[in-house]
Amino acid sequence: MSRNTLYYGSFVHSISLTELEYLVDALVYVADGTITWIEKDVESSLVQEMAGRHGLILDDMGLEFVQLDEGDFVCPGLIDTHTHAPQYPNLGLGQEYELLDWLQQLTFPREAKFTDLGICGKGVRRGCQAESERRYVVLRRGQRSLVGKCNMNRNCPDYYCESSVDSSIADTQDLITYIRSLSTSPQKGSLRPLVQPVITPRFALSCTSELMDALGTLIASDPDVHIQTHLSENRTEITETLRSFPDCGSYTEVYERYGMLREGTILAHCVWLSEGEMEVIKRTGAGVSHCPTSNFNLMSGGAKVGAMLDKGLNVGLGSDCSGGFALGVLPQLRNASMLSKMLAVQPEPTNGHGSTPTQFTNKPLPIPTLFYLATMGGASLCKMADTVGNFLPGKEFDALHVTPGRSPNFFLDVGEARKTGLTREQRRTKLKETFERFLFVSDDRDIAGVFVQGRRVGGSRA
Ligand code: GUN
Ligand code: FE
Repeated sequence: MSRNTLYYGSFVHSISLTELEYLVDALVYVADGTITWIEKDVESSLVQEMAGRHGLILDDMGLEFVQLDEGDFVCPGLIDTHTHAPQYPNLGLGQEYELLDWLQQLTFPREAKFTDLGICGKGVRRGCQAESERRYVVLRRGQRSLVGKCNMNRNCPDYYCESSVDSSIADTQDLITYIRSLSTSPQKGSLRPLVQPVITPRFALSCTSELMDALGTLIASDPDVHIQTHLSENRTEITETLRSFPDCGSYTEVYERYGMLREGTILAHCVWLSEGEMEVIKRTGAGVSHCPTSNFNLMSGGAKVGAMLDKGLNVGLGSDCSGGFALGVLPQLRNASMLSKMLAVQPEPTNGHGSTPTQFTNKPLPIPTLFYLATMGGASLCKMADTVGNFLPGKEFDALHVTPGRSPNFFLDVGEARKTGLTREQRRTKLKETFERFLFVSDDRDIAGVFVQGRRVGGSRA
């Protein structure tokens, strides 16, 4: 199949934390997986001429021309910045627990069953259909991902505890080497490797200070490697962590102390951060994976995303399967919206009473901001903002082709959206409405195609 495609139709993407760009009649040229150029507001009668100006001939054998249906649109791929592949079989279980009991009673026993690749594949293949991780499956499916193994050598059952600091580090190094050895194929040329390793101390409570130390040394020796962990999720967890690391003044300081905070460090949850902790995260360039479904479900609390944004933190969204019971990014966007509205009505006393200006603190997150979190925010958090997240020329084409009207609740007004004879501005207004509905009521059926590096890797349209 051709690797060069010229798309013509409607596109929506983030251009800043507060701005979406709604493009109708756009021409987008994707060559070798990369967005090469975009032309906006192109009359259909002028498509051929515009392509010609860029040196393209529409009926050239090497060029695929895709005209999107009126009412359809393309948006950047959504980025899930935190999930646990081996917890997929537990999805929907454990409603009665908070974090620490949930880990012991449900999560560790389940993860420990993933002893061979057969079991692993089965669990993960399913999860992967929405989006997930794990090395073999993501690679075969052509998905983009960061994949890591949890380091954990205490506070877990014997059958699931790493036996020594040395073996924990050696296994981590092996996985890093293995994943990097995969990266040369099937990816090619200048494209970024689709699967990259991420060092994953599970959380401070599951690592002895000796293991934290050794991981810090490994991190320092490898400036490119990504890092992820859990931070400040649950109140009991915080108390226990501070008891385990009595020299540290805050939970965030534990990770800072061991050299784990730097640009690209993904910190999941961050529900109970103080302003001072937010400032440490900002200063180090680390960022936050906001997992609202999980935080509601495990009764962890509500993260102060507005205050984080006012402090200039990178924030993305995470499904945190199976702490959260909903796969995919859109449910997180919806719950992030609900949480921000609740905080607007019932502000937390600690929520942003510092000296920083408050554009977002205790306010409902606007739609452009929610979508930014789901795309550009995630890309920045993963140190991939130069590669994905929106449709700027030079970035790789990771995208969703949305066809409204396949799921029942996304039905209304589709006929309207496809009405002919509207002006471009009227069509832009329709696109805005369709996009809002997509964010709040669509499901997988409405996503006709999923593209990674310009290649179709999934979607509801056969
Ligand atoms: N903290 C440590 N491990 C986990 C986990 O698996 N899920 C969540 N939500 N929090 C954690
Ligand atoms: Fe998690």
